[in-house]
Amino acid sequence: MRSVADQSVRELGGRMSVLVRQRDDHVELDSLLDRLALSSHEEQLPVLLDLYRLVFPHAFAEESVLWPLMRRVLPDGEQLTLQVEQEHQEVNELVTRLEHLERGTPEREAALGRLAEVLREDVRDEEDELFPRLQERVSARQLRMLGLAWEIVRRVAPTRAHPIVARRPPGNVLAALPLSVLDRSRDRLDAARFARGATDGSLHALSEGLSRVSHAVERLPIMRRGEDPSTSRGAGGRSAPVVVVIFALGAVGAVVAAGLARRRL
Ligand SMILES: [Fe+2]
Ligand SMILES: [Fe+2]
Repeated sequence: MRSVADQSVRELGGRMSVLVRQRDDHVELDSLLDRLALSSHEEQLPVLLDLYRLVFPHAFAEESVLWPLMRRVLPDGEQLTLQVEQEHQEVNELVTRLEHLERGTPEREAALGRLAEVLREDVRDEEDELFPRLQERVSARQLRMLGLAWEIVRRVAPTRAHPIVARRPPGNVLAALPLSVLDRSRDRLDAARFARGATDGSLHALSEGLSRVSHAVERLPIMRRGEDPSTSRGAGGRSAPVVVVIFALGAVGAVVAAGLARRRL
């Protein structure tokens, strides 16, 4: 069994293959982690936002397209995919913690160090073990079709950490649309803020507001369906009916905020 890292594009099924698309993203992730390690405290946030926009849609598309297939075609698919889902869960929890840790503190530096470590472990598990196993079971043509499905989901997936939402269907699939609208609105607001030298307090407040709404949305019980107990985290927080109202308001707010950010850009 040869690692995906050591195979040619042709061996992996061609440029459109899911294995080539995965490897390309993993290379980009590696260079972002190198950039993050060399960044000053002030430079970290824009690099982290680039990292989140790469990592979270990438992992979401794995959890909703690739791992369910691996559980169907491999006898030990359950155990293999659970291990990477646990890594993804840790990434979601670390990034959520980072949102509340003061810049330059030892706790934040430790969380950043662990984040880089888990992301690199996840890449090694996928390239050295999971994907070579998948390659044994599916044809090159199927790898290209999977590449297309994975790419489509990745382009509309959430772009921020969501540790409460299920790592498995149907919960994660149901959560995709509302969380993606909220996350991508936050991305626009943050981009507009950084374009002005990160000085706009109102855009920061709007982004924080959307963050609170999205964390409330992921507590909806329906979005936690299908979760394995080992990646499940207590939802706590507000009761579902209140959250439904917040969600509706948040979706409207997100659309307004996105329009506002576009006008200001
Ligand atoms: Fe991956
Ligand atoms: Fe992954």
